[in-house]
Amino acid sequence: MPLFTTTYAPQNSQQIIGQELAVTQLKNFIQNYKQQKNKAALLHGPIGCGKTSSVYAVANELGYDILELNSSDYRDQSSISSFLDSALGQQSLFFTPKLILIDEVDNLSGMQDRGCISALMKGIERSSFPIICTANDLAEDKLKPLRKSSLIIEFQKIDQKTMVTVLKKIAESERIIADEKALSALARQVDGDIRAALIDLQLSGVTKTLNYQEVLKLSDRKRTQSILQALQVIFKSSSAETALPALDDIDVEIDHVFFWLDENLPKEYLSVTALAKAYEHLSRADVFRGRIRRQQHWRFLVYISNLLSAGISSAKDEKNTSSVRYQQTMRLLKMWQAKMKVAKKKEIAEKIADKMHLSKKRAFQEVDFLKPLLYRQDVAAELELNEEEVSWVRK
Ligand SMILES: Nc1ncnc2c1ncn2[C@@H]1O[C@H](COP(=O)(O)OP(=O)(O)OP(=O)(O)O)[C@@H](O)[C@H]1O
Ligand SMILES: [Mg+2]
Repeated sequence: MPLFTTTYAPQNSQQIIGQELAVTQLKNFIQNYKQQKNKAALLHGPIGCGKTSSVYAVANELGYDILELNSSDYRDQSSISSFLDSALGQQSLFFTPKLILIDEVDNLSGMQDRGCISALMKGIERSSFPIICTANDLAEDKLKPLRKSSLIIEFQKIDQKTMVTVLKKIAESERIIADEKALSALARQVDGDIRAALIDLQLSGVTKTLNYQEVLKLSDRKRTQSILQALQVIFKSSSAETALPALDDIDVEIDHVFFWLDENLPKEYLSVTALAKAYEHLSRADVFRGRIRRQQHWRFLVYISNLLSAGISSAKDEKNTSSVRYQQTMRLLKMWQAKMKVAKKKEIAEKIADKMHLSKKRAFQEVDFLKPLLYRQDVAAELELNEEEVSWVRK
């Protein structure tokens, strides 16, 4: 079953809800790019309000190809540079116009050293086609150069009334019988996030009926299961008892909890002593994790959970009252992506080796150099590159 977020993603500007001004600005920016004072546009607004999908809908309507660097791609300074180099140098296939989408620029990995933004700025300066960036939060200091040189396009938070209308329409077309109260509650709960609304509607509408009680349960489920909520409880609660059950019922594996904590601890605990104590708990928990692995002694799991929840929670002297945006740990993702990247590259190298009578090793060394050639459809066809390999080349 396809996801509602896919089924109901807007295909053209007419289908984008509640963002008329932004969409007009975006369209104008793309269509009259040559006359623009700014060479990039920066779309910003709350989560799930249609930034990314608007770029796709408008590009689709205007007949543009999108070359995208999104947040699940590995993005550091050099990978941004090489993406932009190849994207900007690329001839368009059959003269289809193209645009470049850098999604979620507030989540670039090298933000600390500003390297990512400066790589991006260099690309923007020399670009001859539209570069569109999206972000939730423009306040970040590092985004300043980008803010200054871009046309800023603001996306609105979707209000509750609009949200109800959207939900009603989708419920109808999916033949989900939903009562009015349930839909308003759901609309209130998702707080402007259409993506969350569609996911919730799809999850709870499996039975083809949706009532108020179910919607309330839905918000309950979120409170206990999301790792983000668990982190909030661990970092902010002042008693160990409250923190203790935080990890009982969460939606990620315990191994991943280590990464989440490790990634976010330094942002949350600002005093050196609190940090030191917290890391002590983390490393003791890690010792137990090792023992489980070696001795298969699963009772240690309880210790781990306690150390990570109550232990880390009580390591602080006082809670950090500012709200911290917890980052998903990128480490696992990066490890996996690096592996996948090399695997694809090897695959392509083998095909090149075959056709060009090179050794596999030599072909592997040449793949990057040959990339501009691999962009060409006839070359890709000659090498019999499959869809995944072609998209690897285009990255
Ligand atoms: N304004 C909208 N009109 C129609 N559908 C929308 C709108 N906003 C979001 N959606 C739906 O929600 C899904 C997610 O939207 P989208 O990815 O565009 O959000 P976003 O603003 O880019 O969020 P994020 O800040 O998390 O990247 C889309 O696939 C679409 O189905
Ligand atoms: Mg987005």
